[in-house]
Amino acid sequence: MKTKRISDALEKALNDQMTREAFQAQVYLSYASWAEVNGFPGISEFLYGHMNEEREHMFKILKYINDRGGSTKIEAIKAPPENPKNIEDCLKKILKHEIDNSEQIDKIVNLAHKEKDWATFSFAQWFVQEQIEEETLINGVIDKYSLATKKGEGNLNLYEMDKDLAKAPQEAVIPRDEEI
Ligand code: FEO
Repeated sequence: MKTKRISDALEKALNDQMTREAFQAQVYLSYASWAEVNGFPGISEFLYGHMNEEREHMFKILKYINDRGGSTKIEAIKAPPENPKNIEDCLKKILKHEIDNSEQIDKIVNLAHKEKDWATFSFAQWFVQEQIEEETLINGVIDKYSLATKKGEGNLNLYEMDKDLAKAPQEAVIPRDEEI
């Protein structure tokens, strides 16, 4: 049995976060299934993929608590919310879930800092970075959705152009660079 190297308060906070990550996975699962049956296979794949990420987050926290000599408590997960009304609603709700989750991570960081538990503080930094990436990713999807659906001439073309630019080389080949 390992020596306990984490406070009861942080052990509880991390256990709660573990359950929250499991809930996030359920939300993605339910929205992914909704998108699939409503004819959006691409968005559905994206959401199924994210469901797996959330499960990995849950497992990462479980391992950390156990490694620090704490104990994990697997709790019931509440049901995901109602299906979204449409894709825009779906994306906005996902962003809101991610922002709420980031705020919960911040609370763990604050508590670890207050307790001077630098191991947990350092562990939680991974989640801080992950949340930055996730919020950025979802914001990017929302931007693309807006570009593709806004009324007005040429927006679908703009969307396609944006997709092309993402894959475009950063340097143009000019004649003098080419082998003669
Ligand atoms: Fe694990 Fe998207 O938060």
